[in-house]
Amino acid sequence: MNERKPVYITTPIYYVNDVPHIGHAYTTIAADVLARYWRLRGRDVFFLTGVDEHGQKVQQAAAKAGIDPQAHCDALAPQFQHLWRRLNISNDAFVRTTDRQHQVVVQRCLQQLYDRQLIYQADYSGWYCTFDERFWTEKDVADGLCPDCRRPVERLSEHNYFFKMGQYQQQLLRHILEQPDFIRPESRRNEVLGFLSSQKLGDLSISRPKARLSWGIELPFDRDYVTYVWFDALVNYLSALEYLPIDNPAGRQFWPATVHLVGKDILTTHAVYWSTMLMALDLPLPQMIFAHGWWTVDGEKMSKSRGNVVDPHKMVDEFGTDAFRYFLLREVPFGQDGDFSRFSMIARINSELAGGLGNLLSRSLTMIDRFAGGTIPSHDTSVDTPLEHNLTQRTAELLADADVHVEQLRFSRALEAIGEIVQLCDRYIEKTAPWALAKHPEQRPYLNNCLYHLAVTLGSLIRPLYPFMPWTTVNMAQQLGMEPQEHKGSLSWKDPFLRPGSKIQKAGPLFPRIEATTPLGGPPVSDVAATPRPTPPRPSTTTAPPSPASAAPCQITIEEFAKIQLRTATVLRAERVPKSEKLLKLHVDLGHEQRQIVAGIGKKYDPTDLVGKTLVIVANLKPATLMGIESQGMVLAAGDTDVQGLVTVLEPVTPGTKVK
Ligand code: MSP
Repeated sequence: MNERKPVYITTPIYYVNDVPHIGHAYTTIAADVLARYWRLRGRDVFFLTGVDEHGQKVQQAAAKAGIDPQAHCDALAPQFQHLWRRLNISNDAFVRTTDRQHQVVVQRCLQQLYDRQLIYQADYSGWYCTFDERFWTEKDVADGLCPDCRRPVERLSEHNYFFKMGQYQQQLLRHILEQPDFIRPESRRNEVLGFLSSQKLGDLSISRPKARLSWGIELPFDRDYVTYVWFDALVNYLSALEYLPIDNPAGRQFWPATVHLVGKDILTTHAVYWSTMLMALDLPLPQMIFAHGWWTVDGEKMSKSRGNVVDPHKMVDEFGTDAFRYFLLREVPFGQDGDFSRFSMIARINSELAGGLGNLLSRSLTMIDRFAGGTIPSHDTSVDTPLEHNLTQRTAELLADADVHVEQLRFSRALEAIGEIVQLCDRYIEKTAPWALAKHPEQRPYLNNCLYHLAVTLGSLIRPLYPFMPWTTVNMAQQLGMEPQEHKGSLSWKDPFLRPGSKIQKAGPLFPRIEATTPLGGPPVSDVAATPRPTPPRPSTTTAPPSPASAAPCQITIEEFAKIQLRTATVLRAERVPKSEKLLKLHVDLGHEQRQIVAGIGKKYDPTDLVGKTLVIVANLKPATLMGIESQGMVLAAGDTDVQGLVTVLEPVTPGTKVK
């Protein structure tokens, strides 16, 4: 990426036919992470989001609500803005397609193309899908259904205006071939290339007769028509820069866009319609169009009719903004589809945020408080050992990796790299055992040095984590005594480094552990995230015809099995539970966290047999209390009432490795 060029990041503009859901939140959070990342790197950033207010969907939603479309848009647009505030989205502008400025720019583009004879009028007859607002050809709709949304199509014959899109086919193909980063990820690029090289690109109908659809921007050269909603919507990326980029300094500065983030379903409209429109307008194409995947919910397609639409507000209410932001970008590699479940969200928050990062900060600060009077000790290189060299060097490598990952939109890999640093620190603490060093006055210099290394490593996480979890990182920085200042979606410090001598300010946990109050899997996420509207009744399990699963109750599906998280755990300590013949209390290492597990294996094993052994545990079992001791998981063993042997793995593996 050009080192000085200002950065222009966009999300799609969202239809205001309904309230925002997790899909909208996903793209907008990803865009926010990028915007904050580039601001931290000192770039000028213009981050745009907004709403798509015209077209049939919105007109129908307004009619259903019994209000005029403008009143409907005026009621819905603030709901998106409100959600963006709650999700801490640092957008620089919010475009509404009913804005006067936007309408002027759309009309100017239309007129320009018309004047250049790139728009012509013709009769058109085809199969029309009202939901998708587009025509399909005879062979597309062989079964009478829209190939996209599977709704019935209707035959329409219309006099319409067409944009000569087809004539740009070869130019577009060449551009995609010459610019490997233009469409990302690679699989999506190949899809578009495949389609463009195997089919003839037709012209695009860019008008709708007002008699059929009145809610749109009027064609400047024919008042009986409004423009097609996509022609209107795509132009937002230019109109938000106030006027056409060539006419205006803001436009000249930011156009072409650095990246348009879109969902995979709207890649064609961006990669083909938008690109050819820009070619026709003699404007440069965006540097990148990145199509991300879709979320299903508890393994099912998310839809209003299924009643499983995830309301981001409910997620923020229950888990907090930063945990929600983190989960969305950590759970699924950006670009791929993913499944959202309340269960995996709780599991990740507990293991990586409460148990990983939060616990590391809290125990490190507690030790600095207890052993160093709450002041970050200084670095004494003379007592550094290979442990400190390794921690410093590996952290630097992982930070560099994380940086490149965000730049390349590999958000989950960036968070993984940061998580590895947390694990490094946890292991460092276990190896150096500061509490043991504190018992020996002659070890004081090394103890101080350990605390220094921990604090500095934690401090080095503020920058890379900030784009993902802005509020949490400011809090972390304050607890570490770093005094950051947040301004316009970026961070600055009087002194960006953690200095020895700073006073820490330990506060409450960054992420409280979430006690799952419901059985494995939890309720369907839609129960938690019920939309404010009444949801249609779910199919009743008592009246439904027996499914293969209900006919054979012992069988579970692969999705059900996938809910059980099995992990390897290394036994660090083991002891008998007083007054119990059977129970042992095990302290196990899961890599990024430690757990205490009470296991009924005391008749077969002595505690000393187990220390250092690798076991397999159920890591996401709801904690239970046995003889007054909390058990945070379950050890797998062979045998029924009597334990015959513990489950382990043949080769040595890192603690916390997934078992499947
Ligand atoms: N208005 C158009 C975009 C015009 S951009 C010039 C539109 N709006 S939308 O509200 O229907 O969808 C906006 C975005 O939400 C799309 O990128 C779409 O992929 C995304 N999502 C909708 N459902 C989704 C999921 N279940 N998961 C992830 N993203 C999803 O299309």
